[in-house]
Amino acid sequence: MLILSLSNRNLNLITFAPVENMITIHVTDLDRVTHSILAPTDMGFNVMEAIRANELPIKATCGGMAMCATCNCIVKSDHHLPEMSEDEEAMLDEAFVLNIPGSRLMCQIFISEAIDGLEIQMGELTGE
Ligand code: FES
Repeated sequence: MLILSLSNRNLNLITFAPVENMITIHVTDLDRVTHSILAPTDMGFNVMEAIRANELPIKATCGGMAMCATCNCIVKSDHHLPEMSEDEEAMLDEAFVLNIPGSRLMCQIFISEAIDGLEIQMGELTGE
């Protein structure tokens, strides 16, 4: 099935899931452009992987192991996210971004219905 993803710059075609299992995440990139991307709730993706699947640039050097902080984001909406693990908190602290309100690792936020409409700002560490 083909899914359309709209952003301020692009119209993307995504082919991996039916519409009923998709949520929307609003991602503001480092150029302050907001992209509304679709993410599947039934594939075990995290937010970093959803961003990659939507072809937005993100460093994410460690590939989702909570070992690099290059998937850092600032959560802007009031969604109730699961508490940080000790590994996530330690990584954010080591990267000097733990003290930024709403700071999280995108690879540690898993896609579910509970985060539909999530608004995030990509952190400076995500850039090349
Ligand atoms: S991708 Fe490295 S910490 Fe998330």
